[in-house]
Amino acid sequence: MSADIFARVQGILDAIQSEKIENVTELEAFRIKYVGSKNEIKSLFGEIKNVENDRKKEFGQLLNDVKQAAEEKYEALKTTLEEASGNNSGSDIDLTSPCEPMPSGSRHPVSIVLNRIISIFERIGFTVAEEREIEDDWHNFTAMNTPEDHPARDMQDTFYLKDSTTELLRTHTSSVQARIMTAQKPPIRIIAPGRVYRNETISSRSHCQFHQVEGLYIDKGVSFADMKQTLLYFAREMYGEQTNIRLRPSFFPFTEPSAEMDVYWGLNNEDDYRITKGTGWLEILGCGMVDPNVLINCGIDPNEYSGFAFGMGIERQAMLQFKITDIRQLFENDTRFLKQFSGVI
Ligand code: DAH
Repeated sequence: MSADIFARVQGILDAIQSEKIENVTELEAFRIKYVGSKNEIKSLFGEIKNVENDRKKEFGQLLNDVKQAAEEKYEALKTTLEEASGNNSGSDIDLTSPCEPMPSGSRHPVSIVLNRIISIFERIGFTVAEEREIEDDWHNFTAMNTPEDHPARDMQDTFYLKDSTTELLRTHTSSVQARIMTAQKPPIRIIAPGRVYRNETISSRSHCQFHQVEGLYIDKGVSFADMKQTLLYFAREMYGEQTNIRLRPSFFPFTEPSAEMDVYWGLNNEDDYRITKGTGWLEILGCGMVDPNVLINCGIDPNEYSGFAFGMGIERQAMLQFKITDIRQLFENDTRFLKQFSGVI
């Protein structure tokens, strides 16, 4: 009897030692058979009572050896298989711990507003025209019907390039009108976003660089009513469906008649009184019918074609929409300021 049982245990030990394990499924079967809570070796401990007294100790020792051999083989195989599959869950790296937070970027408020404006006009068939920031006198002023003695040409307002009286940093995106009209035939329907420069003292309200969006529409029979309707559409898309606009007579050398457009902002709180100077209205853009002289300067026959143009500043609209009180914040690239726009598109 005793010899039998010794042989059985020895058989199990041999089986454990010779077992070939190549994958996790086989390893799991091995674990259940020899290491798990209902393993074969455990049941043999119950056989000790059937072993002759003088061999009980020897038997117990043998069972312990088998148990230990099974556990050691299991642990060794587990490590080998995990390393082979690149699974490091047994190592110090905790794959379930949360990752390092990745700071997400944000769009610049000027870009946010610019993109909104572009998308509104693109929906009604305007295409984006981008042009140079270093311009010449002709495209920036002369073609735009701004006579030689106009105050806007004064050295105080315009940055001329070093040693040049004709090369300058464009003072408005209206120069793109001249670029496009001299290069393309009507119909023309463009918006021109971009940076402009003026030799102004930097303060909380003005800067020597800022952004504008220019609009130009030239075709046969374009009227002031077309302009008004286009700008009303823009205002409602930008500031809400119920937004009202008003056009006030104004003057620009390159448009005749000229107007400035206000949107009704409202007078709901103290801030509204301050930013609208108590009127409830905010000036958003300048506009008008393209002056026939501008068309002639650019080689377009004013008897055949007419058109409207408009120009608006971006910073001011960004400041209104995001309640920014100092324009300089838009140029400082302070991440504490910029990260407030994270997620805004
Ligand atoms: N260029 C003007 C400015 O910088 C804005 C402007 C007014 C543009 C009327 C236009 C326009 O196209 O028609 O203040």
